Amino acid sequence: MNIAIFGLGYVGTVTAACFSGLGHNVIGVDTSPEKVAKFNAGTSPVLEPGVPELLAEGLAAGRLRATIDAAEAVQNTDISLVAVGTPSRANGDIDLTYIERVAADIGTALQTSEREGQHVLVIRSTVLPGTADIAGRILSETSGRTLGEGCGVAVNPEFLREGQGVADFMEPPLIMVGADDETTAKLVMSLYDGIEAERIVEPVRLAEMVKYANNSWHATKVTYANEIGVIAQSLGIDGTRVMEILCADTKLNISKAYMRPGFAFGGSCLPKDVRAITHAAKASDVAVPLLSSLLVSNSIHTQRVIDRLLDWHPDRIGFTGLAFKAGTDDLRESPIVEVVERMLGKGFDCVIHDAEVNAPDLIGGNRAYIEAEIPHLNRLLMDELSELVDDSDVLVVAKSSDELVELIRANPDKPVLDLVRLPEDIRVRDNYVGVAW
Ligand SMILES: NC(=O)c1ccc[n+]([C@@H]2O[C@H](COP(=O)([O-])OP(=O)(O)OC[C@H]3O[C@@H](n4cnc5c(N)ncnc54)[C@H](O)[C@@H]3O)[C@@H](O)[C@H]2O)c1
Repeated sequence: MNIAIFGLGYVGTVTAACFSGLGHNVIGVDTSPEKVAKFNAGTSPVLEPGVPELLAEGLAAGRLRATIDAAEAVQNTDISLVAVGTPSRANGDIDLTYIERVAADIGTALQTSEREGQHVLVIRSTVLPGTADIAGRILSETSGRTLGEGCGVAVNPEFLREGQGVADFMEPPLIMVGADDETTAKLVMSLYDGIEAERIVEPVRLAEMVKYANNSWHATKVTYANEIGVIAQSLGIDGTRVMEILCADTKLNISKAYMRPGFAFGGSCLPKDVRAITHAAKASDVAVPLLSSLLVSNSIHTQRVIDRLLDWHPDRIGFTGLAFKAGTDDLRESPIVEVVERMLGKGFDCVIHDAEVNAPDLIGGNRAYIEAEIPHLNRLLMDELSELVDDSDVLVVAKSSDELVELIRANPDKPVLDLVRLPEDIRVRDNYVGVAW
């Protein structure tokens, strides 16, 4: 394929070198004449192992060159990958100046281009959801072409790490293209023919979001390991070894477990243990803002459910599930118990069905907890799920079952607040709200 790559920084240079290595014809574009001259002389503008070899090979084969002339690059290609910077503004917002400039440069070039067919602008830079829409508008306005006909937009976020960019490009964890139509998705994906990796196509806005989820996750991991390290250090323990053992558990720790949006955490362990370890840190004068934020965030998440219910202001709220997770009757620090208790306190009528909770059977700390929170739990519990669905004005689904899903399907007018992610046919309803999706 004939590809233009805008921005010959870390991402653009590695991308240009690697695509040329895969056999594509690549024209790199940068506003810096020095970078372009260096590139054309075979000197990588950035320090990245493997790039000089790929540059030399591509230049010698005539598959790779650089220019400062955007119009010339656009006229000779069908697809433009944009890898310009997206720095922070003083207030933290993303600065899209370079993205917007490039979109206008490509559009203006397209206006006079005699090349047949569609030209697709693919954003490779890290951009917030909605940015490709902005770029698409600029592209269409400046080119005079209709989006989806003469021109198109897509995103293809870069997952490489500096210092091992070429290796990450050639053996990526996955290849993701964000495109809102199949033809564009296929075109962009075909750039990677020859590379083995899972291929994922998603709508543009979702793909834009993924990169932020990734990088926030990486930042969270680093901060978490550092906070565990300093707490351990203050207690005379080797935190590195602690984290090694944490990572050795690939069932619960380094795994998909707990890694999907849902309701707040609760139960007899997590809240208590987070409180204890942050207290231990405080006692040692060790600031751990990430760990200290966990219970705050969890309680804000619980409050979201309460706020939504207050907004709906139903006469009677039906809760399916009371325990903090499925498969248990442990009610201690269940966030749903808190929601029920708060709604009762505000004068709302609440009814509950939880097949695993039988009030008279509760014993020990579990019983003491529920007696303190909801002393008349027995009166609120309903044995029959169908009765609960019939008798409630809204449903809060904290536990699901085949029976419940069928009952919700049979009651399309019943508003549903979903904490567990019900099937899609229910999620698309107007009177449906998901807690975090
Ligand atoms: N550096 C990384 O490891 C990495 C990894 C993944 C994603 N990203 C993202 O990729 C994007 C680029 O990052 P980078 O580190 O390669 O940036 P960079 O600053 O190294 O390079 C950007 C290049 O764009 C050029 N440029 C600016 N305006 C231009 C224009 N109108 N036309 C042509 N070229 C222009 C600049 O001269 C510069 O050479 C950012 O959004 C970044 O967040 C970076």
